[in-house]
Amino acid sequence: MDLFSTPAPDSARQRVAELTQLIDHYNYEYYMNDRSLVSDFEFDALLRELMDLERQYPELSLPTSPSRRVGGEVNKTFRQVTHRLPMLSLGNTYSIEEIEDFEARTRKLLDGTPFTYTCELKYDGVAIGLTYRRGELVQAVTRGNGAVGDDITANARTIPTIPLRLRGDFPADFEARGEVVYPFEAFEAMNHQREADGDEPFANPRNAASGSLKLQNSAECAKRKLMFCMYFMMFPDGDTGLAPQYSTHYGRLEAAKQMGFKVQPYIRECKDIDEIKAFIDHWDTARWNLPFGIDGVVIKVNQTPLWDRLGMTAKSPRWAIAYKFKAERVSTPLLEVTYQVGRTGVVTPVANMQPVWLGGTTVKRATLNNADFMAKLDIREGDHLLVEKGGEIIPKIVGIDLDQRKPDARPIAYTQVCPVCGTPLVRAEGEAGYYCPNQDGCLPQLLGHLEHFVSRKAMDIDSLGSERLRMLYDAGLVRNVADLYDLRREQLVGLEGSKLAEPTAAVAEFALEAEGQGGGSTAAAPRAATIQEKGADNILKALEESKQVPFERVLYALGIRYVGEVGAKKLARYFGNMEALMDASVMDLAQVEDVGEVTAVAVFDFFNNPQHRQIVERLKNAGLQMEVVDTRISNVLEGMTIVVSGTFEHFSRDEIKTSIEQHGGKASGSISGKTTYLLAGAKVGPEKLKKAEKLGVPLLTEEGYLELIGGF
Ligand code: IVH
Repeated sequence: MDLFSTPAPDSARQRVAELTQLIDHYNYEYYMNDRSLVSDFEFDALLRELMDLERQYPELSLPTSPSRRVGGEVNKTFRQVTHRLPMLSLGNTYSIEEIEDFEARTRKLLDGTPFTYTCELKYDGVAIGLTYRRGELVQAVTRGNGAVGDDITANARTIPTIPLRLRGDFPADFEARGEVVYPFEAFEAMNHQREADGDEPFANPRNAASGSLKLQNSAECAKRKLMFCMYFMMFPDGDTGLAPQYSTHYGRLEAAKQMGFKVQPYIRECKDIDEIKAFIDHWDTARWNLPFGIDGVVIKVNQTPLWDRLGMTAKSPRWAIAYKFKAERVSTPLLEVTYQVGRTGVVTPVANMQPVWLGGTTVKRATLNNADFMAKLDIREGDHLLVEKGGEIIPKIVGIDLDQRKPDARPIAYTQVCPVCGTPLVRAEGEAGYYCPNQDGCLPQLLGHLEHFVSRKAMDIDSLGSERLRMLYDAGLVRNVADLYDLRREQLVGLEGSKLAEPTAAVAEFALEAEGQGGGSTAAAPRAATIQEKGADNILKALEESKQVPFERVLYALGIRYVGEVGAKKLARYFGNMEALMDASVMDLAQVEDVGEVTAVAVFDFFNNPQHRQIVERLKNAGLQMEVVDTRISNVLEGMTIVVSGTFEHFSRDEIKTSIEQHGGKASGSISGKTTYLLAGAKVGPEKLKKAEKLGVPLLTEEGYLELIGGF
């Protein structure tokens, strides 16, 4: 409790209790029963009232308060927790025969004892365990290595389908295990946003769920729209003395539903192998209609007292097994190979195929990745392609159906010119694909440049999204990044999206045409609305504010090939200002740490293009930062090289590196004889420790570091 706050009056205490109950109820109806009982506006007002009271009287702020769903707690590190009972994995198989064997073996081992099975979905996400004591969520831990996982409680609290306080009757102490999944719709929206922000999109919903649970700021996790699917209830202190319904797995999940957990309704009690097979058959196709991913079906013995009798194999229980779905595969004729130009100029070949029904969607197009992939496939005109769809949403070409190949089928020659601007394509040595070198004139690339320039890690002009940039291009107002700073209010107000606003090759996602659920769709992005006065002011304000963005980010924003965030930082520090950088020779450039010859040549070429020099000149005249501003706080680490490893309590990894630099030191990635200290946080890399020991490099703790720099 905060010693300086006034004790909460009874009226506040009572109102907090009322609000908590009301908000919990609305949340429950919304997330569990899809029922919206109040408007967003009313809901937000209640939540705000609760948060205000909790801020005013911190003693009333409970860990189970619905305000925790908004997040805000920051985890610099995730505490390691030993599971009270290990988180086991299941034996799994792709073969129905092995399921038959499992069923026969189980029946034999149980030797005439009556029993049933439960069949349920195998959710494709991240396993976590939730501990509830006296009906309150006290801890959430990831599976980790099965014995020890990460404490992700703050992030778990933000997931609406994880109850913070249970309803009705519940056992005093138990663990609810289940899978955190990323529903397809939310996943796609989030990835779309990431691309717009210049962040790397996640490869699939599972990776995205895992990444989200490890976010340091729980408020960010709250935005991720994750879902928890419970599949297991266990009692670390034993399950004697519980009500009879807890003696079956089915009964436990039913009970969990009453307590407020999201238990998917697709669980079935099956009495024999035929019923099990029917369940598997059904979900093998019906899975494509689910709003989240599954990768199989789990079969468990329903009667929990029999679990001990069946026991364990080396690492998984004998009373359960997972059947995994095979990727679905079809053969369909290739109609044509077309080419798409991406934002970076990379050309991607696309197979246009006779539409075919595959795993719940119609597939017409799939990527052929690059020239090497096509050569490896040895793809010929008129070939039939083998297309697969596994747990992921995107169909994959996995081979050629050689039985269908005509003897005289001619090889397909890769295009020599850019399909958008006609420029002859270039293939960089050692790279798998071709690219269009017409950086400044090829529309997708130009739009790509503009998008990169305004992205969050570059100039951070968030009022200019990709649709608006396209509008500015179509109106003839913007042909390069410098034109942005010449925009005038009267040019912007009333500007409309083009009537023809088809997604260009640049804007079009890798649209793998699909009808029905779960597939990527080709629907054109909604046309950006007409720019109103307020919108115009926002754009101009953001452009004005971007003039304060530090030089290293301006350099990154220019989008020079191979120059990422780190490279830009190193170049900026080394040369100090744009002029020196523009006049540097390849030799000078290659002196910079981490700048190899390829990057040095790319930077040199970029600035030797008169058009680029002119753009930089215009950006300078517009007032953008063109030199490094010293952000030094002290020189106490002058001459020291510090290697950082592990996680820290007061800093993220990037923050501690910046801090080292701000105190005059050098943060380096690898240990050598020149290293002054190994700054070791929790979970320091064992290889780093070994090397430090070998070379006699002293260790420095986070506290030691803070002492060195004289505290925060
Ligand atoms: S039961 C001891 N049920 O699949 C049995 N697991 O190897 C505990 N999974 O990582 C697991 N859906 O996270 C069970 N309905 C389900 C499941 C499920 C997904 C995951 C689980 C584990 C893996 C099993």
